[in-house]
Amino acid sequence: MNSKKLILVIFAVALALFLMVPNLSWAEDGAALYKTKCAACHGPDGAGKPAIKAPSLISPEAKKLTDAELTDAIANGGKEQKPTHAFAKKGLSPEQVTTLVAYIRTIQK
Ligand code: HEC
Repeated sequence: MNSKKLILVIFAVALALFLMVPNLSWAEDGAALYKTKCAACHGPDGAGKPAIKAPSLISPEAKKLTDAELTDAIANGGKEQKPTHAFAKKGLSPEQVTTLVAYIRTIQK
């Protein structure tokens, strides 16, 4: 392989990585955030823990929640403003909440 071709190949690989990595890290962020902030109560797979009254996030009822309702439940504790879920006050950014909503949608499938 001559050096011109080699440079082209390196450039193509770099471009491919550049296009792929933001998507990968986006997906991983949601999973990692969920694991550290939510899995203790809602279970590693989102099935919930009846013993501590943490509801399933993958039930038919949870699937019916709109993105806005999910976002509000996580960021502000929903309509009743449950303090366990005021994650906006506990340091999650709106982007992180959006990432979590997107992650919950992926485990609901
Ligand atoms: C300390 C345990 C605990 C942690 C941590 C926790 N939850 Fe919850 N979650 C609950 C309980 C209990 C409820 C039921 C409502 C209530 O009493 O607060 C609930 C309710 C919810 C609901 C509303 C479900 C519905 O059907 O309306 C959503 C959505 C939710 N949690 C998502 C999350 C996400 C996302 C995280 C991580 C950022 C998280 N929770 C962290 C215990 C927890």
